[in-house]
Amino acid sequence: MGSLTIIAGTVYGNAQHVAEQVEESLAGQGIDCSLESDPSVADFSDADALLIITSTTGQGDVPPNLEFVFSDLKDESPMLTGKPFAVAALGDSSYGDSFCGAGKQFQALLTELQADAVADMLEIDAMETLEPEKDVLEWVNTIKDKLVG
Ligand SMILES: Cc1cc2nc3c(=O)[nH]c(=O)nc-3n(C[C@H](O)[C@H](O)[C@H](O)COP(=O)(O)O)c2cc1C
Repeated sequence: MGSLTIIAGTVYGNAQHVAEQVEESLAGQGIDCSLESDPSVADFSDADALLIITSTTGQGDVPPNLEFVFSDLKDESPMLTGKPFAVAALGDSSYGDSFCGAGKQFQALLTELQADAVADMLEIDAMETLEPEKDVLEWVNTIKDKLVG
């Protein structure tokens, strides 16, 4: 079984909290995982599998803590061929077209770098749930075998 690198993109801490809950739950199930909130390109290229949990800021923008690594990944284009990944996006549908924009940007970038999406991106709408960790945990449990199995 491979290990899972969880990447959290957050402004106010919601996505960080969700990522911590996911890490705790998966670790409790015996899955080897690490949580990065200030990742480098190497964290992406060295990972066996990637789970991105990110909120969106501005107008569809990546949170500041992932801004640099996002542009480094674009510039350096490390091939992530076949690396299993999934993206959970926290957003707010009142932002209209930019709903979950940061998650969409990661989904597109990792796909471009030839990583292997094991699931469609999960969209969590702050207008609809006050407990994003619950929805994300349920979803993660349905895809974890595809990530690290
Ligand atoms: C200034 C600001 C801008 C935001 N822009 C967007 C946006 O463009 N699209 C979206 O889906 N959500 C947007 N949101 C909603 C956040 O992504 C959402 O509230 C999320 O749960 C925040 O998680 P965090 O605490 O991890 O940053 C915005 C929130 C704020 C405060």
